[in-house]
Amino acid sequence: MLWGGAFAEPSDADLRALQDSISFDKRFYKQDIIGSIAYARAIAATGILTPDESTVIESGLRQVLGEFESGAFELKDGDEDIHTAVERRLTELVGAVGGKLHTGRSRNDQVATDFRLWVLDAMSQVDAGLANLQTALIEKADQHVEMLMPGYTHLQPAQPITAGHWLMSFFWMVSRDRDRLSDAARRAAVSPLGSGALAGTPFDVDRALLAAELGFQSYTENSLDGVSDRDFVAEFLFALALIGTHLSRLAEDIIIYSNPLFGYITLNDRYSTGSSIMPQKRNADPMELARGKTGRLIGNLTGLLVVLKGLPSTYDKDLQEDKEAVFDSVDNMLLLLPVVTAIITTLHLNPDKMKAALGGDMLATDLADYLVRKGLPFRQAHHISGQAVRLAASRGVEITSLTYDDFRGLSDLFTEDVMAVFDFAASVAKRKAVGGTAPEAVRQQITNAQKWLSEHQSVQPVQLK
Ligand code: ARG
Repeated sequence: MLWGGAFAEPSDADLRALQDSISFDKRFYKQDIIGSIAYARAIAATGILTPDESTVIESGLRQVLGEFESGAFELKDGDEDIHTAVERRLTELVGAVGGKLHTGRSRNDQVATDFRLWVLDAMSQVDAGLANLQTALIEKADQHVEMLMPGYTHLQPAQPITAGHWLMSFFWMVSRDRDRLSDAARRAAVSPLGSGALAGTPFDVDRALLAAELGFQSYTENSLDGVSDRDFVAEFLFALALIGTHLSRLAEDIIIYSNPLFGYITLNDRYSTGSSIMPQKRNADPMELARGKTGRLIGNLTGLLVVLKGLPSTYDKDLQEDKEAVFDSVDNMLLLLPVVTAIITTLHLNPDKMKAALGGDMLATDLADYLVRKGLPFRQAHHISGQAVRLAASRGVEITSLTYDDFRGLSDLFTEDVMAVFDFAASVAKRKAVGGTAPEAVRQQITNAQKWLSEHQSVQPVQLK
């Protein structure tokens, strides 16, 4: 126990069960030990440790690290959290000098430091998973630049699009997700170490050097803020929740498109599942999990914000509730990303099904555009095209089955070339302005996406020295 001096009695067992965090914060062992090594050097530079003591502490800490890494580390009864456990073991190994390590430091600046280092590492792993997903999306899109499929708004057939365009829409969502991670990483890479419990350290610790040793970009300017700021946690949880939201929307498309009523997509055997009773079933379970797990990703963000909102300055034990939410979101994201990526890579698109689902009425906008090209204001053109839809519906057909005379009856701006409007490939080819669905524009989009990928700086794991 690190703090028993003023207490006549040991903690109650139920209290320990409530407040010990070792069961989950042991995931910080590496960050905690590396942080302590850097801290030992920093206080040695002030003269609090002799060079010999500093060396003894550093090699003791490296031994503790080795024990964690080999699985030999044994938890003991008094180990309430990772910081306590490491210091306890260090002191067993090197003797009383281990007790000098905590001079001027508090678990408050220590845990904030550990967590930031851990979050930066996790951000880089999530970022790498997203980069793989982007590559898979580009490759799949590139193979289907020309393939026609129905595009939807309100899940109602809207206009023909190309399958490559549909796939690339997710590339750009993921590119923003990765930008967001980079941006959040910039703010997470700020060292709170040397903030002490709340008021700063009374020893002349070189915080800038300490920050640099740990791979941080800078250090916090205010110790009160330094120990209690969890913005970096909230931002990461938000980034994860929004990544989940994007994956969930992709999942929803895939679930719908793989339904036999649509049949646009066939999922690979390795990434779909059957039913124990209905032999014909091919379920998109992993996509349903992407959709379902997004619920907990959003819940974890909400939970943390609620924890933070009423806290008085500075550290409060409530802040111990910040970790499991992040572990849960990161673990689930790292389970999801490789499977979602593999699903994209192995997805089979069925051009015949997509084509068969293209209804002639999906060219009603093109019919209006035809009249616009003849000089009619779009509002009137829209109205006339709507009348064509209505006329066709009254006969139980689509506008593509109307005759030239039918069109003449609606407007004398129609000439014989109107029949050329009813060509799905021509419809998408017209949408060739940047960002449009025309194969030509999608090819340009893919080139731009490849450029984005080659220029984007991934989030780097912290290099602990
Ligand atoms: N386990 C604690 C946490 O995660 C470490 C900080 C403890 N600080 C304190 N003043 N009790 O927040």
